[in-house]
Amino acid sequence: MVATRRQPQVLLASCAELPTSNGDDTQLPAALAELGVQASWAVWDAPEADFAQADLVVLRSTWDYTRRRAEFLRWCESLPALANPARVVRWNTHKSYLVDLAAAGVAVVPTQVIAPGERAEWPEHEFVLKPAVGAGSRDAARFDPADPTAARAHLRTLHEQDRTAVVQPYQEAVDAEGETALVFLGGVFSHGFVKGPMLTPATAREASELFVPEGLRPTDPPATMRRAAEDALDAACGLLGLCRSELLYARVDLVRATDGEPLLLELELSEPSLGFRQTDSAAQRRFASAVRGTLARR
Ligand SMILES: Nc1ncnc2c1ncn2[C@@H]1O[C@H](COP(=O)(O)OP(=O)(O)O)[C@@H](O)[C@H]1O
Ligand SMILES: [Mg+2]
Repeated sequence: MVATRRQPQVLLASCAELPTSNGDDTQLPAALAELGVQASWAVWDAPEADFAQADLVVLRSTWDYTRRRAEFLRWCESLPALANPARVVRWNTHKSYLVDLAAAGVAVVPTQVIAPGERAEWPEHEFVLKPAVGAGSRDAARFDPADPTAARAHLRTLHEQDRTAVVQPYQEAVDAEGETALVFLGGVFSHGFVKGPMLTPATAREASELFVPEGLRPTDPPATMRRAAEDALDAACGLLGLCRSELLYARVDLVRATDGEPLLLELELSEPSLGFRQTDSAAQRRFASAVRGTLARR
């Protein structure tokens, strides 16, 4: 008699407020089931969820970790099988990784990291002040250097909460054409989408929101952007000492500088929205295949 092979069990990690994703990932369990992988949703900090038993835990909508990153990273590090790997998540959940990538030669939006107790040097033109550990645009705001009072107050608030801040010049192209997200699955380019501007001038975001609603649309990114995204991903893998294929998912967010060249705004290796609703349904099949690849390596 031929023994039937046990189906691999995958847990898609979410948070209590969005237990089955924000809608973007809802078809993933079905796409995985087609490939013989049993996938279900589980809230990352729910005591009843048995993450250690899963063949693979995949981070998805775990977006409430930003105010308790240490606890979240301890949880990530406790798991026998996590995608992406815990050390990637540790590096990537603090926006100082942008400084590392800039030092490695990646064209990054100029980024100052300001820890509590440190002073900011405000850029000459309009700028963005946001938390170094943040997601979904929460607590990110845009300021005019002619009126630094509001920016100082926002920085003080972040620092009083013991949060490190990031200052970047506001990238005008975001208003005109948005930012372009390039999604990689299993280290291979899958699809792109555009996200419209998220920040209205000098408006601090509601801290209670998990994410700010996004205006998204599909795009076929031009070669300059595809190449810049590949370069950013290779640089990150070089810094982390891993192969591309070890990254189940990656999202590279690019904006166009005033000279037209792409600049990296964010490299999301932790819990990115992957824009499945903005692209062909085959993207979810590619994701499922990349999960099979991750399971096969273990
Ligand atoms: N330097 C910047 N120039 C223009 N827009 C920015 C800049 N930084 C952030 N934003 C806007 O704020 C949003 C959130 O910032 P981001 O760095 O992507 O952080 P996160 O997505 O982790 O909250 C972006 O999607 C973009 O619309
Ligand atoms: Mg972002």
